[in-house]
Amino acid sequence: MNKPKILVTRAVFPEVIARLEQHFEVEHNQADEPWNKEQLVRRLRDKAGAFTSGGDRIDADVLAAAPQLRICANMAVGYNNFDVPAMTARKVLATNTPDVLTETTADFGFALLMAAARRVTESEHYLRAGKWQRWTYDMFAGTDVHGTTLGILGMGRIGQGIARRGAHGFGMHVIYHNRSRLAPQVEAQCKARYVSKQELLETADHLVLVLPYSPESHHAIGAAELARMKPTANLVNIARGGIVDDAALAAALREKRIAAAGLDVYEGEPKLNPDLLTVPNVVLTPHIASATVPTRRAMADLAADNLIGFLVNGKALTPLNPEVLA
Ligand code: GLV
Repeated sequence: MNKPKILVTRAVFPEVIARLEQHFEVEHNQADEPWNKEQLVRRLRDKAGAFTSGGDRIDADVLAAAPQLRICANMAVGYNNFDVPAMTARKVLATNTPDVLTETTADFGFALLMAAARRVTESEHYLRAGKWQRWTYDMFAGTDVHGTTLGILGMGRIGQGIARRGAHGFGMHVIYHNRSRLAPQVEAQCKARYVSKQELLETADHLVLVLPYSPESHHAIGAAELARMKPTANLVNIARGGIVDDAALAAALREKRIAAAGLDVYEGEPKLNPDLLTVPNVVLTPHIASATVPTRRAMADLAADNLIGFLVNGKALTPLNPEVLA
């Protein structure tokens, strides 16, 4: 019997390709060539499945050109690159990779929070540039982390991981805002108190963004929200580009209307607002919050398991539109 055909859009662990090849006829992109929409569509035309990354937009146009497609398995927990209603309408299963990256991503949120608060990269650049002549009392003096107020916008799995780290590891007072309030026992585990978005903005010493991107969360942090924050505050975005108005943030940082920021995601990435590159009080990383070797491998394995599970056995581990399975 012919194996189903699948497309793997980006380079991935060779062991995962080998596993997929046991079940499928695989067209891969181990050279990691950038494909435009037309190139992606051409390759998807005869495929039953796709192993996608967050950069692959799967929308109604793409689906219309890929009549045999039955599943897109995203190697990411975020799936704003998928038009899920359009996929459901065409009975194409969408899957993502939740859970396996929660703790690693929460670790990184904390790494960015601490690096920005304690000016780690800014001071390293100074040192590497040979500027360090002598110690001074206020050299790279930053803001404290322990015992301060940690605000979290978006309290899903990763937000809760950050809350636990802050409350239990650093004795922080945790406040959060979310579309819906958490169950009391979850709030207790995270030692987190539900507040309005306004109180969150005005009270947090460190504000971490972990909410999904959608038209509703576009520019959830813009000039008006930044103006409500403390001048000593630190803003961390590990969610998605577009949730923060990067131009407004760069201006607020430059004018010291907030003290610092740590960013892993950007509007229009991998391009950055050039103003962000010239302000010193921001730590910038290239969308690596889930990037440890074991976690990236677990994400790739989960995406592969979803493809194999669905196309071979009709089951998927982490469906986003389970109605397609019914
Ligand atoms: C990364 O950004 C992810 O959504 O997994």
